[in-house]
Amino acid sequence: ISLKSYNTFGIDVKAHQFISIQSEEELLEILKRFYASELFVLGGGSNMLLTQDINETVLHVNLKGIEVVEENDDFVLLKANAGENWHNFVLYCLEQGYGGLENLSLIPGNVGTSPIQNIGAYGVELKDVMSYCDTINRQTLSKKRFYAEDCQFGYRDSIFKSKFKNQYIITSVVFKLTKKNHKLHIDYGSIQNELNAQEITSPTIQDVSKAIIAIRKSKLPDPKEMGNSGSFFKNPIVPFSILENIQRNFPDVPFYKIDKNSVKIPAGWLIEKTGLKGHRKGDAGVHSKQALVLVNYGNASGKEVQELAELIKKEVAIKFNIDLETEVNIF
Ligand code: EPU
Repeated sequence: ISLKSYNTFGIDVKAHQFISIQSEEELLEILKRFYASELFVLGGGSNMLLTQDINETVLHVNLKGIEVVEENDDFVLLKANAGENWHNFVLYCLEQGYGGLENLSLIPGNVGTSPIQNIGAYGVELKDVMSYCDTINRQTLSKKRFYAEDCQFGYRDSIFKSKFKNQYIITSVVFKLTKKNHKLHIDYGSIQNELNAQEITSPTIQDVSKAIIAIRKSKLPDPKEMGNSGSFFKNPIVPFSILENIQRNFPDVPFYKIDKNSVKIPAGWLIEKTGLKGHRKGDAGVHSKQALVLVNYGNASGKEVQELAELIKKEVAIKFNIDLETEVNIF
């Protein structure tokens, strides 16, 4: 079958076999039947670039369901199964009046893959709201619970990308959310501007979500309309000396201080300065409103997008002496 509708980049590659599982029993059965190396695990398909047909059997983790694990007057521990769409889950929480996920509105993908790269936006990361996630070991089939502190979360990083890469299937994630006295994170300049524009002075969690949705819509393409995987690269963390070099030619380069020796520079800014923002070759392009996002205008192949990414890496390396690291997984 074609995987075009199963990856947000909308790349048309084929899978020689495709199995969608809806329960943990089905999942265990498949894991017993196949060697780990024979399976290609697919969640929301929002953080991958497929460059060739998949020879393994695609295992689509389609576990649905949301339930309260525990609650008191102030907090709720809410569990979502891996196959729930992330943004629908965020909207569900907002409808219930549960706070914590509003800054993570409109991120593509599913709940089950959110811990792998510690999704984050507008000052909140998954690690701030996750209590634990439940997993199945692909080799031994035993269950294992990972608390947030076990996951080695970092910027777009976790133990599931490093030490335990491809070893566990996340079946559900449990979040610790507030029922009252919500703690808002609205210090990002763009959130303030958006709230001011709407003359909102004491925002609710719903207001914050709406503001984030408006900001994201203004610069990030909707995967349903134009294939993409959000940020294609990570924002590089570089030594101060590199920043100082850049500042000689570009005194107002944006940056965030990480510690006394290093800073994070927005990759979108670096790419824009190479002149590649809006660049298009065939159906693969650099988004015209946010240079960090690569897009598929229709029928781009994964290889074409990959070539574009290579061009960007090369130009940024030549101009700024910085090696961009991809955020998206390339297969
Ligand atoms: N910028 C440019 N040109 C561009 C894009 C950005 O000059 O084409 C500049 C902006 O003017 C701004 C700075 O770069 O000064 C930062 O831009 P923005 O606020 O759009 O955020 P970002 O650093 O590009 C990161 C995340 C996003 C997340 C936003 C908001 C990464 C790799 N990306 O983007 O995450 O939504 O911050 O928190 O960290 C994603 O991971 O898929 C994603 C969209």
